[in-house]
Amino acid sequence: MRNDIERVLIDEAVIQRRLDAMAAAIDRDFPPGPLVVIILLKGALVFAADLLRRVGRPIAIECLNVASYHGATASSGKVDFLDCQFPEVRGRQVLLLDDILDTGRTLHAVIERLRQEGAVRVRSAVLLAKDKPRAAAVSVEYVGFEIGDEFVVGYGLDYLGHYRNLPFVGVLKAAVVARMGAAGGMAG
Ligand code: IMP
Ligand code: MG
Repeated sequence: MRNDIERVLIDEAVIQRRLDAMAAAIDRDFPPGPLVVIILLKGALVFAADLLRRVGRPIAIECLNVASYHGATASSGKVDFLDCQFPEVRGRQVLLLDDILDTGRTLHAVIERLRQEGAVRVRSAVLLAKDKPRAAAVSVEYVGFEIGDEFVVGYGLDYLGHYRNLPFVGVLKAAVVARMGAAGGMAG
């Protein structure tokens, strides 16, 4: 798995240090009161597990299964809610966690839905934000790292279901992308 990586973009220790600061800001910023953390599956799982253990206030954890990428390295432009039940957020403040802000369509769609469902305050945190124009306007309060507009894997992020368990964020070798893409993707 490590051999498939062309270069490490953000190493493990740097990520962990950054999470200390993000958790401290989250603790400081939210007014007292019930806080629901919504983890967008599956990409935000690793980020959430490390970040939330640093948050000192009581939280409830919910997960949402949202599809926007459908396995390729480019956005499909459509966001589907895959769960049959949406978390109960009426009257609650919400912290939304995602792995990466790319086109912005995913967070835009989820934030809209949270408002419709009656959430009183919605803030978002992402590990990564790509430096590029967004297709959908979205404001993200907590950003771990700004990166260039390139496809990355690791620390929760996948290519065709693979590489989520790498402890760092890295860029795949072009030959690996081509080989896996041509094979139609292996089961993740
Ligand atoms: P957006 O809706 O275009 O902002 O895309 C968000 C989703 O696309 C993320 O939650 C990721 O699952 C996926 N994604 C975007 N860029 C990358 C990448 O560089 N590597 C892996 N997944 C990505
Ligand atoms: Mg993904």
